[in-house]
Amino acid sequence: MEQPLVEAWRRVRTLGRRPMQVPGHKLRYLEGAPGWAREFVGDTVRDDIPLQGGVDDNAYSHGYLRRAEALWAEAVGADHSRFLVGGSSQGNIAALATVGDQGVPIAIDRTSHRSTQAGLVLIGATPVWIYPELHPDFNLPIGVPASALEGLAARVNGFFATSPSYVGTLSDVEALAAVARRHGEPLIIDQAWGAHLDFLPGRGAIHQGADFSVTSVHKTLLGYSQTAVISMRDAVIPRSTLDRWVDLTSTTSPSGTLMATIDGSRAAMVEGGGPRLDDLIDAVGSARRRLATVRGLAVLDDATAGCAVDPTKITLILPGTGADGVAIGEALWQMGHGPESADHDTLILTTSVADEPEWILAFADLLADVVEAHRSDPRPPSAQSIWRVEPEVVMTPREAFLRERRRVPMREAIGHVSAEQFCPYPPGVPLLAPGERVTAESLDAIVAASASCRVAYCSDPSLESMLIVND
Ligand SMILES: Cc1ncc(COP(=O)(O)O)c(C=O)c1O
Repeated sequence: MEQPLVEAWRRVRTLGRRPMQVPGHKLRYLEGAPGWAREFVGDTVRDDIPLQGGVDDNAYSHGYLRRAEALWAEAVGADHSRFLVGGSSQGNIAALATVGDQGVPIAIDRTSHRSTQAGLVLIGATPVWIYPELHPDFNLPIGVPASALEGLAARVNGFFATSPSYVGTLSDVEALAAVARRHGEPLIIDQAWGAHLDFLPGRGAIHQGADFSVTSVHKTLLGYSQTAVISMRDAVIPRSTLDRWVDLTSTTSPSGTLMATIDGSRAAMVEGGGPRLDDLIDAVGSARRRLATVRGLAVLDDATAGCAVDPTKITLILPGTGADGVAIGEALWQMGHGPESADHDTLILTTSVADEPEWILAFADLLADVVEAHRSDPRPPSAQSIWRVEPEVVMTPREAFLRERRRVPMREAIGHVSAEQFCPYPPGVPLLAPGERVTAESLDAIVAASASCRVAYCSDPSLESMLIVND
């Protein structure tokens, strides 16, 4: 199996180089760095080889990266792919910048990751928010309906939706792509949580007709943290436009090590990844059935969600057991099995091809016991939901970002325009964003979220004050 970046990376490790250029650690951790340096950074940079002047030469004359990107594109059915070391956050920014422009309206799923807000600030596009449908009992997103796009097609210049959602539910991307195609507008799918879907026949967003997809290789494949890929089809927008934005948002010193793990992930999925994913999916199916035997526990799957669900995700809805997801999450952390996310009602577990099927089954037994140990009186699901935010947009995120601002006590902000983002993490979906009217409901939702997770990216984490746009 051809793996240009992995092969070049391995080769460089055998050469015993001591470069008279960057990196500052001079690759000395392979041979034995000075003791004082080892004392401070330990072995943390042992595997670090830059792409430029390392895995490839200073002029990239071997073209390892371009070849690896072409192999990725071919594997996922795209015409063009670019490797990213700024995560899907960079991918979302580059994708939005590729389709958008100052003042141009773009239809965006309001439950999108905060990086879409960064993209909007950068380019000054006007978001026209669209919303996923919500599950009637669980209050969780069950996909952006094609009808949400249809009505807007005449007044927007592109569509952006997130699938899989953080909880694992999938939108009908084929239906979304059909609307986009009919109106000649580009469709971006944030598939950050579904890099593995590209290696299941017909399940990846590009295969399903999206023009752009953004995937985090580090989330569900084998990539180093920060690794991601943006892929596109040559249809509505030239690839040179995407390249421009990827280059603009990229570091000029990418890590060859990180990028080699993208290359290796692709090779691993192309060669033997299908059967490995099938085994994982079977095991997750068994784990879900096991967990569904726990009294009062709802387990998200295609039947209970009423939409397709990522077959590798385990999402549990706890109110029927009376158990508190935050306490369960803490118990799992103590055991070394920290969940992807835990709030009072919902527990999300991410699995990957690096989890053996036997482990998934054993973990399901362990998790069932932990839920039992936290059992209490059943309760109704919380009415607060991060997936329900429908803000009044007063100005574009860019306008709000650039305006003069002032700090006020939290409750005095009601009625004013927020200059900042309040973003429970995970899942990283803002409850309130720059340019949106502050309401009593939005503040209540922020305070409620802070009880079960970190509210990130706001300037006063105590939530006693906030920044508003000067009137
Ligand atoms: C839906 C979604 N998109 C994008 C991102 C950003 O991904 P990354 O951490 O790879 O930058 C996240 C991160 O959690 C996410 O949940």
